[in-house]
Amino acid sequence: MQNKMMLTRFVRSCALCLLAAVSFASIAGAQTSEVGRAQAVTAEHGMVVAQEAIAARVGVKVLQDGGNAIDAAVATGFAMAVTYPRAGNIGGGGFMVIHRANGEDTTIDYRETAPGAINAKSFLDAQGNADPEKSRSSALAIGVPGTVAGLAMAEAKYGSGKFTLAELMAPAIALARDGFTLADDTADALPRDWPRLKRWPSSVRIFGKADGSPLADGDKLVQPELADTLAAIAKDGPQALYQGPIAEKIAAGVQAAGGVMTADDLKNYRAIERAPIRGSYRGYTIVSMPPPSSGGIALVEMLNILEGYDLARESHAQELFLMTEAMKRAYADRAFFLGDPDVVKIPVPRLTSKGYAAEWRATIKPDRATPADDIRAGGEVREEGRNTTHFSVVDQFGNAVSNTYTLNFSYGVGLVAAGTGILLNNELDDFAAKADSPNAYGLLGDEANAPGPGKRPLSSMTPTIVLKDGKPFLITGSPGGSLIINAVLQVVTNVIDRGMDIATAVSTPRVHNQWKPDIVFAENGVADDIVATLQARGDTVMVRRLPTSANSILAAPTGFIGAADPRTRGALAAGY
Ligand code: DON
Repeated sequence: MQNKMMLTRFVRSCALCLLAAVSFASIAGAQTSEVGRAQAVTAEHGMVVAQEAIAARVGVKVLQDGGNAIDAAVATGFAMAVTYPRAGNIGGGGFMVIHRANGEDTTIDYRETAPGAINAKSFLDAQGNADPEKSRSSALAIGVPGTVAGLAMAEAKYGSGKFTLAELMAPAIALARDGFTLADDTADALPRDWPRLKRWPSSVRIFGKADGSPLADGDKLVQPELADTLAAIAKDGPQALYQGPIAEKIAAGVQAAGGVMTADDLKNYRAIERAPIRGSYRGYTIVSMPPPSSGGIALVEMLNILEGYDLARESHAQELFLMTEAMKRAYADRAFFLGDPDVVKIPVPRLTSKGYAAEWRATIKPDRATPADDIRAGGEVREEGRNTTHFSVVDQFGNAVSNTYTLNFSYGVGLVAAGTGILLNNELDDFAAKADSPNAYGLLGDEANAPGPGKRPLSSMTPTIVLKDGKPFLITGSPGGSLIINAVLQVVTNVIDRGMDIATAVSTPRVHNQWKPDIVFAENGVADDIVATLQARGDTVMVRRLPTSANSILAAPTGFIGAADPRTRGALAAGY
């Protein structure tokens, strides 16, 4: 009887897992089946670690010209919208965590919002079931883009003042106008993602050849309409995108493709500065992204649970076992409690408290895996109430920026709004279209993350800055949908608990559990004894690729050491 139940559960889980696998294959961050070894790069004054080399160098040049980390991040962010179109964007959204040289920390939420016409039933079929076609592949999935508002806000508030927005955007405009040679991950991804892009002539004109096939490695990508759009923003500021002819073209492009975004939705978009999630871990301070990201809360919750163990003394296998147990609990809370903080009440202080973590820790058996179904999300708290890219930046003044932004899938929904050059996202799949119906990353959600007008879908993006004695120590984050939070967790613990150098901390194969499906995913390369230990504790373990890319920087006695994640071709750590 029990075996039969287990088998049923396994089959159900595997169906979800397969679903997740399909989408993992289509997201940024994955090219190699085995994790290579990151190169450690040192720099004395400042550094940018990003997924695409041209854009990383754009940021370093700004640093060399006396700019601060925020100036450099903004220049890199706009450049990647041109040179890394599968995830760099102005048609999507993201999050920026900033540590300022004066000791203050802040975050900028430039997550996409749902158009006013989206409601709780928008992504259901006629029978009332979640319809992934609607939330992932159709123009209904497109959220109001936030990147331009977010980058402009970061620059206006925290830029050095030495550069105008136009000056920081100039390299991006030139790259779009003059073109550049497709290489690395961008070239690898384009043929794979072509079926989505080729549905729209406006996308084929830019990313295709005359014979209708996608541009390939070595071809030149020229984006004149994107150059015009960027030039208009450089000249008139972000309102050039949110009001007037460009906004009207975006709305018209979305509507022509069957979506519901209006020019008013664009006009109403606001980036929001929010206080970061703060936590502590063995004397270090964790500064990370608050809701609508689940990343900061889940990261701090897991670190709080793990702080109760002397991980440095545990075997690597036992460390990872305890970690997966913490993951299950934090992801269960994520599914239950988290959503847009402007719409739902989230018990943030409790979820991130040491006491709450102690309650969870008491439910962990050191030698026996807890089945996902036995984890009751939230306990007493209930009463209270996936393409992406990450870059890390530090400067000579003591500022640091951790930025993750995304179109959700690689090349978003695949639609370029005609006449704008802007590739649009399919971020609204990050809502829980229906309770118990997983999104593309297999994540479940509840009412807190139901679709609604103007709402921001819950994210897993976890741009994070770890401080030591109030100064930037580790800057990290990753793409990878549901894998992101656990990737960041393992970079942090690899450095703090296992004393790894940053290249090893980033390269070491990772494990992942997201509560449901009730499976521990072990990245190719995880040692056999670790897999055996997890299995012996009762976990179902699947070994596979885990496409993440944690481009990270660690402070060094004289300057910084950067590690570009080797999992994806083309990432670069560059400094001076
Ligand atoms: O915000 C989120 O959590 C997802 N839309 C991120 C997607 C992602 O990381 C895909 N890339 N690898």
